[in-house]
Amino acid sequence: MFDRPDKVIRQFHGYYRNYVDHEKKHESKVEQFGVDFPERRSFYQLLAKGLRKNRSLVEQVLQSLQAHLPEKSIDEEPLDKMAYTTDLSYLMRDWSGEKAHEEEVLKTAKSILEMLGPYYDSHPSVLVLGAGMGRIAVELGEQFREVVALDNSPTMAYCFNHLMKGSLSFYDIQLKRTFHQSEMVKEIKASIKDRNDDLIMTAQRIHYLLGNALNMPLKDGSMDIVVSAYFTDVFPLDLLLEEVDRVLRPGGLFLHFGPLEYHFSDESAMYAADEFRPIFAKYGFDWITETTLENTNFCRPSSMLQQSYKNWQFLAQKRMVTDKGSMQKNPCLCLADAITYKVEGPLGKHHDPSIILYGGREPLTITPVLLEILKLMSNPIRLEQLLADFFHLFEITKEETETRKMVVKSLEELMEKGIVKAQESSL
Ligand SMILES: C[S@@+](CC[C@H](N)C(=O)[O-])C[C@H]1O[C@@H](n2cnc3c(N)ncnc32)[C@H](O)[C@@H]1O
Repeated sequence: MFDRPDKVIRQFHGYYRNYVDHEKKHESKVEQFGVDFPERRSFYQLLAKGLRKNRSLVEQVLQSLQAHLPEKSIDEEPLDKMAYTTDLSYLMRDWSGEKAHEEEVLKTAKSILEMLGPYYDSHPSVLVLGAGMGRIAVELGEQFREVVALDNSPTMAYCFNHLMKGSLSFYDIQLKRTFHQSEMVKEIKASIKDRNDDLIMTAQRIHYLLGNALNMPLKDGSMDIVVSAYFTDVFPLDLLLEEVDRVLRPGGLFLHFGPLEYHFSDESAMYAADEFRPIFAKYGFDWITETTLENTNFCRPSSMLQQSYKNWQFLAQKRMVTDKGSMQKNPCLCLADAITYKVEGPLGKHHDPSIILYGGREPLTITPVLLEILKLMSNPIRLEQLLADFFHLFEITKEETETRKMVVKSLEELMEKGIVKAQESSL
């Protein structure tokens, strides 16, 4: 799923191997604490047990990567920082079932779903970027027909897949800011199955892809919606938008959720919220709506630190063909799929029949003029040629701006309904 899978697997392999070595030394140190400080022996024994358990989970991921490595392969220089890769906090938040975590993740998912509510039918496929342990993707799966979750962390993908078959035990370790010692090292059982039957069925429908969000294993224009929750700030916006723009179809939607924390060092790419709009406009997106949602962030009731974010949430839509920039691009248009039609209406001189089209997302009633425009698209055709043919067909000698606008608007609507698409062309 990666651009150069061998290289990426080796990099992750090297990273995990270093992590495992480091954790083994950490465990030995903690075991020694148990000897040196007998009054806390049982606590250190539990801590060492927790560390061992968490390490064994990472070792399982390491083994599954090893299976994909050629024998005697040398580890690629591991990246020194792989954001979130071994972070089990997301497993805790998404699938521990603990009340505070459930409330937090469901509040986020509800806010995203509410903003996408008007688009459930017209935009059935959703891609969730940096999907982590997958809970947000699964909640979206309750409403959308097709959900693709993509993350580059083998741990995230491994845990999500493992949870389809059974539960996962790990330890939540919080040595700082904790009121009760019993909360410092806590065994957690993560499970999807134990939540409810609907959730596991939805989770099984999610396509979880291991891949890089900057070079996704997805076709151009293949997705209706891209959701980026706690992810837009992982990379400079320009890098991300190039790729989002590629995989979204015209009329597709981009939803951002989260604070702008910026997990990279390039200060020239750290924008304030009010700078996003013109950047999105430059990439051909219209701003639809925005809001903020105050929510906890990894709420642990026993912790002395309670973080809360004012999460910024917005929705932007990739333009069809109406704006000046895209018009100048003169897209190549064609029928998205095979379509058939039926003519309906009373027989009479003064009645225009209705044409019912089949083949898009749902049956669609159109005018006879629009049917003629569709016929002009039986072979791929550039927008400008289509407009010229249309004016010729209806003997409109002087090209009228208003008529032109109307035709383009109708084409937009046909794209929205999945009847017409813009395609890469060698025309
Ligand atoms: C802040 S976490 C958010 C997780 C998830 N969106 C959520 O809210 O539950 C960022 C996620 O992005 C993933 N990630 C980091 N770099 C990535 C990349 N280049 N491609 C895909 N995913 C990436 C990490 O593995 C991590 O799961």
